[in-house]
Amino acid sequence: MVLTGAGISAESGVPTFRGPGGFWRSYSPERLATAEAFGQNPRLVWEWYDWRRSIVRKAEPNAGHRALVELERQKTDEFREPSRFTLVTQNVDGLHDRAGSRNVLKLHGDIWQVRCVGCGAEERNEQVPLEELPPHCSCGALLRPAVVWFGEPLPAAAWQRAVEASEQAQLFLVIGTSAVVYPAAGLAEVGREAGARLAVVNAEPTPLDATADWVLRGQAGELLPRLL
Ligand code: OAD
Repeated sequence: MVLTGAGISAESGVPTFRGPGGFWRSYSPERLATAEAFGQNPRLVWEWYDWRRSIVRKAEPNAGHRALVELERQKTDEFREPSRFTLVTQNVDGLHDRAGSRNVLKLHGDIWQVRCVGCGAEERNEQVPLEELPPHCSCGALLRPAVVWFGEPLPAAAWQRAVEASEQAQLFLVIGTSAVVYPAAGLAEVGREAGARLAVVNAEPTPLDATADWVLRGQAGELLPRLL
């Protein structure tokens, strides 16, 4: 079981949320990443997402993403069963997919998906920059990014599969996440309680370090290929 956060994409040039240069150092989550903020100022929220989409568009997967593709391949071959390896991410950037990971559970959605706030239709939209800000659905209502904002529930099916994989895991790798945003961060605790051994890969200390079996301090793009 692998859980990743913004840190795995840092070496690809995508800013994290809480570290130096992180989004939440300069922007307020309440003004940009809540349904209330979108209701009050959809254009401002979309300007921020449009800008982030332009950053992600230019970014390339790094050696950390690629090491997880290789790990998935190795574990799938070894056990001859895809379900024995699970990659869960809090990232919306799609870099795991672009690196070649086959089964990615996205707990916080996908920055390239949009959803209509009126009819609920969801579609892929890779236009950068967007032609119209905020964009509208063919039904006339506003489109929003199909991501999870603060106060919103996680996608139920992905969450359920992530919990099951955590409960069954022998080894739980937590990579590049500050592990402070719940419920995602709670998966490591679910895994630990069910008997998994826990390894934390992070450039900085995290709240999980105290209970981890291994703490690997450094850049994911350097450490993960060495772990393989
Ligand atoms: P954070 O920005 O909170 O944490 C990033 C973590 O990555 C920190 O612990 C850094 O020390 C670590 N890090 C930075 N560069 C690294 C590198 N090269 N190698 C290894 N580790 C590195 O990001 P998340 O934990 O992903 O939610 O944040 C969780 C959620 O909070 C996000 O999904 C987002 C945000 O608000 C929503 O938008 C719902």
